[in-house]
Amino acid sequence: MNILILGSGGREHALTWKLAQSKKVDKIFIGPGNAGTSNIGTNLKLDPENFTSVKTGVLENRIDMVIVGPEAPLALGIHDFFLNDKILKNIPLIGPGKSAARLEGSKDFAKAFLTRNRIPTAGYKSFDKTTLKEVPSFLRTLSPPYVIKADGLAAGKGVVILDDIFEAEKEVEAMLNGKFGTAGQKVVIEQFLKGIELSVFIITDGITYKLLPEAKDYKRIGVGDTGLNTGGMGAVSPVPFADLKFMNKVKSRIIDPTMKGLSDEGIVYKGFIFFGLINVDGNPYVIEYNIRLGDPESEVIIPRIKSDFFELIEGVAKGDLARREIEIDERFAATVMLVSGGYPGTYKKGKSIHGLDLAQGSVLFHAGTKKEAGSVVTSGGRVLAVSSCGSSMREALKTSYRNADLIDFEDRYCRSDIGFDL
Ligand code: AMP
Ligand code: GLY
Repeated sequence: MNILILGSGGREHALTWKLAQSKKVDKIFIGPGNAGTSNIGTNLKLDPENFTSVKTGVLENRIDMVIVGPEAPLALGIHDFFLNDKILKNIPLIGPGKSAARLEGSKDFAKAFLTRNRIPTAGYKSFDKTTLKEVPSFLRTLSPPYVIKADGLAAGKGVVILDDIFEAEKEVEAMLNGKFGTAGQKVVIEQFLKGIELSVFIITDGITYKLLPEAKDYKRIGVGDTGLNTGGMGAVSPVPFADLKFMNKVKSRIIDPTMKGLSDEGIVYKGFIFFGLINVDGNPYVIEYNIRLGDPESEVIIPRIKSDFFELIEGVAKGDLARREIEIDERFAATVMLVSGGYPGTYKKGKSIHGLDLAQGSVLFHAGTKKEAGSVVTSGGRVLAVSSCGSSMREALKTSYRNADLIDFEDRYCRSDIGFDL
């Protein structure tokens, strides 16, 4: 079995690392991958959003299965492209079709889906240029802060939370006037929910699902959850407050009705669903759906899967997930992200990374790295995730920080307080 994993981040390195441990997997190709994935499999120079280049990679390397890491190719319809191609239609692709991808690709679609299916989420209303006049009166029905979201994909920047009602009005207008391009043709305004967030994941073949370990990620750049939003500065799993009682609520109020809603609406979903949840006084609410695994959540949840992960992925491809087993490691996992100074703003690339071979007791998942003249250099904002397991969260974090300290590159930064609030 030859597999192609699309993407180039820490999530894709973690998938490559885990799938390479399966007896059923022969060769792994990663397109385009990073320096870390090239140590395990073969990187292919292809663009996941250019489906013709993906097809060439699949045919040239006799790929038997494709796993899509990031959301963009899914939102652009890569699954439908495979199904409509005479040769590719016989090659399973793990990830939902374009119709289901709207759960992440359109906040308006996701909110309407949640509401139709009576799944707990913040109250909301959507606006476009024709209904702009109604924005002030809707804002007055809410209490601050005001949550304003561009409908489409905006590279994680499309959510703005403001205390002032007049600034909120201005923000809606700016979004509708193209602040985030076409992503802001519609704007969702929603009620603010107060609580602690967590990420819950399932893998589904469209019929049944398996729950993967949950995680909490740390999105802000600064200590104490301050400053700009990033792709994620670290993560921990399990999440202590996600006990049996809470997770049973997540299953019965959120996961089951989502599965039923998809099936009622005739949407076949084969892949991962990432539920971005918030715990409000012991009750879970959906903040957002994502149609993929999280990053850096993957760097803690994948190390906690003890059983052969390929078994589950094969279950999705064959539609027999129900008879597959998943075994979870009871230990804690933590990951600390090393990033380029200046990220999430502008930063320099091409800095040599030192100390990669010094780490002991952690797994280093590469994100923004590449090989240049035999050495590993930085090639992105998020550079490397240092993941560790331990019998307590404290122990897992201690190991990650000890090893993170051994790795250096110019202007290297990491948050020193991952897990601080748990
Ligand atoms: P999203 O892209 O929808 O996940 O939103 C980005 C972030 O904004 C979330 O991770 C939350 O921290 C915050 N957020 C979004 N919606 C709400 C809400 N209704 N109440 C409180 N915080 C929110
Ligand atoms: N860590 C959040 C995400 O992957 O979207």
